[in-house]
Parts: sequence; C-alpha cells; structure tokens
Amino acid sequence: MITILKGNICYSEAPDKLKIVEHGYLVYSENQVLGVYSEFPEDYLYFKITDYGDYLIIPGLCDLHTHAPQYSFRGLGTDLELLDWLGRYTYPEESKYAQLDYAVKAYNIFTNAIKHSATTRACIFATLHTPATVYLMEKLEQSGIVSMVGKVNMDRNCPAILRQADAKAAYNAARSWILDTKDRFDNTSPIITPRFIPTCSDELMRNLKQLQEEYALPVQSHLSENMDEIAWVKELCPQCETYSHAYQQFGLFGGSGVPTVMAHCVWCNDREIDLMTQNNVYVAHCPQSNFNLASGIAPVRKYLKHGINVGLGSDVAGGCHLSIFRAMSDAMQASNLYWRLIDNLYEPLSLEEAFYLGTRGGGSFFGNVGSFEKGYEFDAVVIDDSKLLTTNPLSIRERLSRVIYCSDDSAIRAKYVRGKQVELT
Ligand code: GUN
Ligand code: FE
Repeated sequence: MITILKGNICYSEAPDKLKIVEHGYLVYSENQVLGVYSEFPEDYLYFKITDYGDYLIIPGLCDLHTHAPQYSFRGLGTDLELLDWLGRYTYPEESKYAQLDYAVKAYNIFTNAIKHSATTRACIFATLHTPATVYLMEKLEQSGIVSMVGKVNMDRNCPAILRQADAKAAYNAARSWILDTKDRFDNTSPIITPRFIPTCSDELMRNLKQLQEEYALPVQSHLSENMDEIAWVKELCPQCETYSHAYQQFGLFGGSGVPTVMAHCVWCNDREIDLMTQNNVYVAHCPQSNFNLASGIAPVRKYLKHGINVGLGSDVAGGCHLSIFRAMSDAMQASNLYWRLIDNLYEPLSLEEAFYLGTRGGGSFFGNVGSFEKGYEFDAVVIDDSKLLTTNPLSIRERLSRVIYCSDDSAIRAKYVRGKQVELT
C-alpha cells in the first residue's frame, strides 16, 4: 500500500546537511520511504494523500539510552554524583521492581510517556527482574515504538537485593529471558546489558559474551561517565589499559557481529577513542544526565571528527526528560561550553548536527532509520508548532529550531513507526 503525506518535510542527508522540502510530498510503501518530492509526483496519482497543511514532518527521534525503571524518580537526587546517586536513589528504586504489581504501575506510566513523545526508537535498560522486564517489553510492543530492551545484569558491588546470586544464576536467568522474548515481538527485542564494569564479575561478563554470541544480540552498557567510576574500574581491572578495554577483553565492545552502544563516554582518552573507532562502538551522548550528575561534557565534536557514530540518550533518571528534542538542545549547549571552556579546537554543534544526532545518527544503530531518503524505514513525527506564537515570519529551519528548543509533546499531531500510525489518544 502506497501512502503520501504532505507537509513541510525536514530530514538529514548528512551530519551537516538538513534537507527541507516546503509543502512537499513524502511517499512510502508499507514500511519504507519511496521518496520526497517538491511537486506532486504524478506516478502516485491514485494513492491516498494525508495533507498535514503547514505542519512539520520529521523522522522519528531515537533515544539511544534510557532507564525505564528510573522514570519514577526523575528530577530527584540530581545534586549527587553518579556513585552516590546510584546508592541513594537508583538501587533502592530498582529493587522495587522485584514486585510485579509495582512494575506494572511504573511501567504503564513510562510506556505511556514514551508513546506520546516524538521517540520512535529506543535502547532501554530495565532491571534484573525477569517478570517485570517481560512486562515492560509487552507494554513497549503495545506502544508501537521499536525498542531494544535489556534485563540488567549485576553480581557484585551493589545491594544484596539487586545482586544476582552468582554468575551462573545470572546466565541462566538471562538465557531463559532471551529464549522467551527474542522471537515473541515484532518491534521489541532483547539486548545484552551488563550494567557497567563495577557491578559485573569477570565470570558474568564471560557468560554474557556467550549469550551474545549464541543469540547474535547487540550490547549496551555505560562507559567513562564519572571520574570516581573510572578510578574504581582501574582498581577492579588493573590489567586493563583503559575502561574500554575492560569490556573489550570479554568481546563486549563492538567489532564484527557485536553491535554495541555505550552511554556517556565523557572521559574517554585517545586509546579508547581509537578502539571505539576501530570497533564501530556507538556513543549515546546524554548531555542532560551529564549536567545533572556533574559528570562532565562529552567531547562529541572529537568523536564526530574520528568518524565515531554518535546518537543521543535521555538517560532518565540521570536526565529528567524523555524528550530527544530536549537532548538536541542540551547537546548544542554542552558543545558550546566544551568549546568555550575546555578546548576551542572543537567547535560547537550546529542545529543541523544536533538534529542529525537525534534522528539519523542514533537511528543507524537500528538500520536504515532516521531519515527520509529512499529505502529508509518509515518512522515519522508530525509537529504542529502553531502554539509557539511569534510576530516574525519564520523559515522552516527556524521553525524546526524553535520546536527543538521550545516545544513539548502536545505539539505532536501524528506519529508513524515502520509505516504504521501510532494511536496517540
Ligand atoms: N552507571 C551504571 N548504572 C547507571 C545508571 O543507572 N545511570 C547512569 N547514568 N549511569 C550508570
Ligand atoms: Fe544510564
């Protein structure tokens, strides 16, 4: 079935190239984009047009890193640094997901929020609890978005209530969860998730590698977020050249057949950057979380110059907002400060680049996702910016800028994922 949407179409052709087609036609068939046209494409004369008038039509946004169980305490504890925040807020909250009825309440709130956001793809941490994680996956599937969900693994350096009995128990639980969920959903799939090196023993990491290989699954984790965390990893893995090598030694740091996304990457040194480049490791840049937890400013421009794939993450509850528009504006602000205060060789991100990171940059972790070029999967969001009142005539690019900085979910008029419209009521 071929369908045509009409409106002001904006999408990235390259990191610094934003294509805008004013009052254009976006044609897709099933779940794939066929093309974008400035004049009505006569070839498609007999197909249905949905006319969105003066609204903006953009690719769906991609959240490369967030924590579903932490949505319930977003906005709390942001006066602490990472390790204290984990101990005081995160672990106590995550331990509640042992109770399925608590998880049901909390995950209904989370999935409702992400469904009504502009996000169409997400990499999501759950907790280590299997029934709660499966419930989260069921709700995400119903939400219509495409997600990779991780049952979290931890067997050391965390409260006993969140610690798996041993690496073998963690392996068995992860394996049965993978078998239960890997072919069960259309849009929701498991991803191997060691929380981070401090909470995962060597044996657990070896077991996770075995599962990763056996079921050909992608990997998500945290990397070089906070100075005390990095010092701790050095203590735990004195033989490793860097934090990245602590993952690499187990084959859980990208490379062939191991698609990997690492959140934060605030303090990666040059050896790590080389390894990330070589192994095609994705960076999930989470600027708001990095501000809140005083983690630092990730050198995104440096990563882009190295050709590293970068996407954006909300990292709720390190970040307080699920919005990837918000992550785009935060990323621009973070890059301004990096350039001004840290290294003036690394110029700030442009609007085009921030938009790219939140759409095509992160989207590529999911395949041909995050743009409207021919052959891309059709994920789109329709935005009504008419509530952002102004006395000035604005270009489409200026209107997009104001959407990124000033709009909220109430501006979303329609959302499509893999060619299917999501019911937003
Ligand atoms: N590192 C390990 N766990 C977490 C978490 O839950 N949030 C953040 N921001 N960093 C982490
Ligand atoms: Fe995180």
